[in-house]
Formats: sequence, structure tokens, C-alpha cells
Amino acid sequence: MFVRFLPVLFMILSSASMADVEADREAFRAFYAKRFSSIPVEAHVDGVYALDEAKRAQWLEMEEFPPYEFSVDDGEALYDEPFTDGSGYGDCFADGGAVKHLYPRFEGGEVVTMEVAVNQCRVQHGMESLAYDSEEMMQLTSYIAYASRDQLIDIKVPEDALPAYERGKQFYYSRRGQLNFSCSHCHMQIVGSQLRAEVLSASYGHVTHWPTYRLKWQEVGSLHRRFAECNGQVGAEALPLQSQPYRELEYFLTAIARGLLLNGPASRK
Ligand code: HEC
Repeated sequence: MFVRFLPVLFMILSSASMADVEADREAFRAFYAKRFSSIPVEAHVDGVYALDEAKRAQWLEMEEFPPYEFSVDDGEALYDEPFTDGSGYGDCFADGGAVKHLYPRFEGGEVVTMEVAVNQCRVQHGMESLAYDSEEMMQLTSYIAYASRDQLIDIKVPEDALPAYERGKQFYYSRRGQLNFSCSHCHMQIVGSQLRAEVLSASYGHVTHWPTYRLKWQEVGSLHRRFAECNGQVGAEALPLQSQPYRELEYFLTAIARGLLLNGPASRK
């Protein structure tokens, strides 16, 4: 009897999950809109600089001579350099690389981030993969981010990607480390308050501006490098860049940011 209804039950459950992605997105927007009622919710693409005027003024000064500019220029040169078989990145990515708004994508049963797609393109054309923390990878993704500026995030979560989305969401809400803090503890519950010298930014908008030049790093670094640092801050294990849990976390955070403006690369302190 029960078995007969299982497929129906399954259909109900999975269609409910499809709607959940949109419900999650709305819930995030509503949460921050309520918490910071004087700030348009889209302004969180500037992270902490949407929340703190003094820090914003310093940041705007830094942006007058954008510290990621060389990375973008070098990235453009690399992007245009043909592979040994005569093809190039233009054979993999449309519109001169203005494609960041479509990533991460769910393909071949996994989350393909921009960095992974760059390496897939290289390998398809007989080139070696780049290390995810290499300067060349940061330059290429800086250029792609720059070329994609002002596009709106437009990723879709197809049915078969829902488990990956759910795992990413779970990662976001899981407590970890000696502090036993989840991402949401710092970036939702106590968002806007001060942690040592830093003000905690909203997660809505966390994915719009990567890679990012950080003064602390003295170089351009990736979103996953930041994830690793946030994991480390609570005494939890940092995972490898582009590991499955980080890609799925990025997928979740990007899906809930659908419609937001891409403004990478950026600079941060
Ligand atoms: C102990 C508090 C804490 C926890 C927990 C934490 N973070 Fe952070 N996070 C920070 C601080 C501090 C900063 C730097 C100030 C800011 O931009 O919020 C930061 C910055 C970030 C940034 C960069 C924001 C920007 O505008 O560039 C991202 C992305 C981020 N965190 C994601 C995460 C994710 C995902 C998790 C969970 C795996 C997490 N954080 C957990 C404290 C935390």
C-alpha cells in the first residue's frame, strides 16, 4: 500500500524542494532587509562596506587605484594567448569571458565552478590544469570577473542538482570548530557587530566579487581561500580549495544570490 504511494510522495517532496531554492533566496533577502532596514538589500554586494561608513570611505580611496588592476590586465593577456593546439579560452567561453553570472553550473553530476571550468577547458585542449591557488588561475578569474561585471547572477538549480544544493546549505548551517560556530552564527545572527577589528558582513552578496585583492593577503585570492580562513577562525579544519564541500557551499550561496549584480574583482582589507 505504502509502496504504491512512494513515487507520488517522492514527486511531492522533490517539487517542494525546487520551490525551496526560491523560498531560501526570499528568506535571506527578507532577513537582511529586516535586520538592516535602512540599507537596500542589494547593497550587501559591497560586504562590510555596506554597513560601516568609515570603512567604506577608506575602501573607496583604495578603489581609486584598484589593487587588482594588474591581475585583470595580466589575466586578459593570458586569456587571449592561444593554447598549443591553436584553440583558446574563447572556444570554451562565450562573450569574451563575460560568463561568470552563469557559474557555478551543475554538470556531469557535480558543481562546476569558474575555476574548475577554466581547468576543464585547458585539459580538453591538451593543456595542463592550473593549481587552484596559482597566480595564473587568479589572473584568469580576475579577468573573467571583470569582463562579467554588471551582469546579474543567473544560475538555475536543476532537479538533479538539489542534493548538492542541500549539502551546501547544510554546510552553511553546521556548527564546527572549537567555537562551535556555523557560517550563519557570524554572518546572520551577529551580522553587523564587531569581531575583534572586523565588522561582520551579510552572506547575501558574499559571492558577487571574486577573486578579491585583500590587503591582509597582499594579493588576489579566491572565495574558497576565504572559506578556508573563516573555517580556521573558529578552529575548524580548512578544506582544500575546490573540494566538493566548498563547491557545494558556493553553489548554495550563489543560488540564494540570484539576481544580484556581479562586481568583481573587489578589494577588501
Ligand atoms: C567567527 C565568525 C565567522 C564565522 C563562523 C564565519 N566567518 Fe566569514 N568572515 C568573518 C569575518 C570576521 C570576515 C571579515 C569581515 C567580513 O567581511 O564579514 C568574514 C568574511 C567572509 C567573507 C568575505 C566577505 C567579503 O565581502 O568579501 C565570506 C565570503 C565569508 N566570510 C564566508 C563565510 C562562510 C561561508 C562561513 C562558513 C563556512 C563563514 N564565513 C564563517 C567571520 C566569520
